Amino acid sequence: MRFPPAFLDEIRDRVPISSVIGTRVAWDRRKTNASRGDYWACCPFHGEKSPSFHCEDKKGRYHCFGCSASGDHFKFLTELDGMSFPEAVEKIAEMAGVPTPVRDVQEERREKERASLTDVMEMATAFFQERLQSPEGAKARAYLRERGLTSATQQSFRLGYAPDSRNALKEHLAAKGVPKADIEACGLVRHGDDIPVSYDWFRDRIMFPIPDSRGKIIAFGGRALAPDALAKYMNSPDTELFHKGNVLYNFARARKALAKGGTVIAVEGYMDVIALAQAGFENAVAPLGTALTENQLELLWRMSPEPVLCFDGDKAGLKAAWRAADLALPSVQAGRSASFALLPEGKDPDDLVKAEGPDAFRAVLADARPLVDLLWMRETAGGVFDTPERRAELGKTLRELTSRIRDESTRYHYQQEMREREQSFFGSQRGQRQGRQDGGRPGERGQGKPPALGGQFAKGATGRIAITESLGQSALVKRGGEGMSVREATIIVALVNHPALIDENFAHVEFLDLANSDLRTLHAAILDAMAHDAADDRGAVIATIERAGCGGIWERAVALIKRARQWPALETAALDDARDAFNQALHLQRSARTLHRELKQAQAALDADPSDENFRHLVEIQAQFNDVQATEALIEGFGVSSGRVGRV
Ligand code: UTP
Ligand code: MN
Repeated sequence: MRFPPAFLDEIRDRVPISSVIGTRVAWDRRKTNASRGDYWACCPFHGEKSPSFHCEDKKGRYHCFGCSASGDHFKFLTELDGMSFPEAVEKIAEMAGVPTPVRDVQEERREKERASLTDVMEMATAFFQERLQSPEGAKARAYLRERGLTSATQQSFRLGYAPDSRNALKEHLAAKGVPKADIEACGLVRHGDDIPVSYDWFRDRIMFPIPDSRGKIIAFGGRALAPDALAKYMNSPDTELFHKGNVLYNFARARKALAKGGTVIAVEGYMDVIALAQAGFENAVAPLGTALTENQLELLWRMSPEPVLCFDGDKAGLKAAWRAADLALPSVQAGRSASFALLPEGKDPDDLVKAEGPDAFRAVLADARPLVDLLWMRETAGGVFDTPERRAELGKTLRELTSRIRDESTRYHYQQEMREREQSFFGSQRGQRQGRQDGGRPGERGQGKPPALGGQFAKGATGRIAITESLGQSALVKRGGEGMSVREATIIVALVNHPALIDENFAHVEFLDLANSDLRTLHAAILDAMAHDAADDRGAVIATIERAGCGGIWERAVALIKRARQWPALETAALDDARDAFNQALHLQRSARTLHRELKQAQAALDADPSDENFRHLVEIQAQFNDVQATEALIEGFGVSSGRVGRV
């Protein structure tokens, strides 16, 4: 049965480990210091004459310097006395005077089911591995070789190949007697009421098995070999075994590597994790195709007090970093923080170690900045603080931000730090007023030229962080309503690929207010399809688009979505994910467009009549506008407009 971790911690804390072990060994009186909770004995796990077995109450662990046996209360009982884990737990609970939670029969049954599913996943893993070595895996082997992965690396990550077949895996498993229901429950086939014959989920892909924290395979990621595949990466769907927001790729191995020291590093992709491991960084993990979640952050904190979060050095990467910073902020405290490393623009960790070797990546890690720097940079970069009102506004924003920190003492120190930064920043900004023609960007003081758009945090002469204007500037404002924005493209592409959304949002879809004229023509085609009752069928909507001569625009919109990594808008995404992405984009779109109009009106009103009231109105709208921008900045990918995305 499964015990809640908090329960296990509680009983472990209550019972000194020496009292568990003390019934089985005789402490060495010379070496032992009982008042410090420090005990030595001859090791019960291997025969010896002088004591090299040590246990420490404070840590609740034992270790033998002779045979390397080590563990906690439970491990001692299971390994030495051969108890089952539940028996060991019961025994310790009894010693602690705490009742054991009642057996949960249903939970135990689910546990058994999960165990049989992991067996199936193991069979699938072995199948993919074997296919990689077979003649049909030749192309995949060549691909992996070309990407520089040694066969040792391939084997240690258990990489495989899913053949280009609709039923190779399905039949393989069926022949081994795996019930259809289990194959489906593992997410290994696509099935459902509308699919007459289920078929393999992964076809013609390099397979990355995803292990859980104990190393059991619970899901797969699959990378397309064909460069024009609809989705470059595809993951297993969520199943009884796998909830993608709760898992980090390479968690178990990274945790093991951390025993040798170092800090866990979070990167973006499977290939990054693997390339880093091959280059000697075995402590890297990655989320699974989504932005980092709260649960994943918790996992990172279980490994290291200050994980390094690594992002690409372009706008999308910086925004992902901001988003992660906001996620971490409320929970920071002593021993729970994060630092942020940005890669050179257009490179991911895999590219970097391959092109420039491990030292280049080591340099990126050495440049990692603490959370507080990242937040300060975000709030001040590109801003103009030349009036008391604007400075007050910044102070307010910073106070609001730090007030989210739940731990009182950490909150206090953050507030103090921000006040100090403000003081020294404004002190210097005021002194500079005369010479300032560039909008008073923070941190650029004394630097001739802003650093190149590399997304690197550069230290200014005063040690403050400088960042380029282009990074700091608002995407909303800069876009000026002309280019194709990811936000608007998300709306349109999601609607076409998932026509159910058209129906669900009829009222909004009809009156969409789009800034980009190309997307407006696609919108018109969607309305046209709607008018002809063809809007519940993706093929028919696309046919209408093509008839309207907009095929090229459609392709550009899809390409933008892929570059900006808005997978949920693509055809391959699940409707639920598409709906989330669509709603988020629509919400931002509506606020931004309304405010944009109001802002223009307010500006015109002020031009016509420069009264105090009109000025105040403008400032107010401006503030709301900034709010929307800030929200938008948190959403990875948004604000990246066409032609300016550094990645493929
Ligand atoms: P990247 O596009 O950065 O790919 O996606 P990568 O890891 O560098 O892969 P290579 O080097 O081109 O092979 C980063 C991560 O985002 C998820 C995957 O988890 C991937 O590892 N992703 C990417 C998806 O889920 N779907 C996609 O279509 C693409
Ligand atoms: Mn890559």
